[in-house]
Amino acid sequence: MGRCVLIGVFDSGVGGLSVVKHLLDRFNSDIIYLGDTARLPYGTKSKDTIIKYSIQNANFLIKQGIDALIVACNSASAASIDVLKEKFDIPVFGVIEPASKKAARFEKVCVIGTTTTVESKAYLKKIKQFNDKCVVVQKACPLFVPLVEEGWIDDEITLLVAKRYLEGIECDAMILGCTHYPLLRSVIEKVLPDVYLIDSGESLAELLEDKREIFEGNGELICYTTDSADKFSKLGSMFLGKRFNGVKLVDLG
Ligand code: DGL
Repeated sequence: MGRCVLIGVFDSGVGGLSVVKHLLDRFNSDIIYLGDTARLPYGTKSKDTIIKYSIQNANFLIKQGIDALIVACNSASAASIDVLKEKFDIPVFGVIEPASKKAARFEKVCVIGTTTTVESKAYLKKIKQFNDKCVVVQKACPLFVPLVEEGWIDDEITLLVAKRYLEGIECDAMILGCTHYPLLRSVIEKVLPDVYLIDSGESLAELLEDKREIFEGNGELICYTTDSADKFSKLGSMFLGKRFNGVKLVDLG
């Protein structure tokens, strides 16, 4: 694998910036990011549709000259990572494997994610590959994405929803298997105070540590979106933890 200078990252929208945040913090990577906001959400769509979108997203980023691809979207990683790895001859990384590897150390794990991610059983299968004795339960939490996008992070309604989804779940560790869920960490901790929470984006960045020479850069971030650039910038700052401008609108045809 040669030295990479440009890392392509895609997600169904702005949520993948929660993964970018870890790449910037840890490696100061140079990143071209594509948020497919026009076709969001992916988390309710079929596998075939997500594969089609993922290939279009990857093709766009490859045309921009990227040297490695990161699929920040859990739903897209669950549905299309094998196809993307097979189809493209640059290194392709998803978020399912790193978090699963971390989770497999525990006896009982709960995976939360979108309906597509949970139904795919991608996390469950991967954890079992690492440790077939690990007990894995899953729970789709589809209301979490719109709540986060509404900015209702530290909010009593979000806490009620989290209680409804999560109260009574018995596990040692929980995978936050969606780009939006790390923003709800403190709410989830209120419901399940003794459970170890695994952030899928952070787990990926940790796993890439031994490829540090590829991912290190100057911290340049170029963002493309398939819908309103203005909306992307406003919402994106919440995920990235800082303000940014210069989002470009792109039509993937
Ligand atoms: N980015 C998606 C994920 O991580 C959540 C939003 C969506 O459903 O598109 O699964």
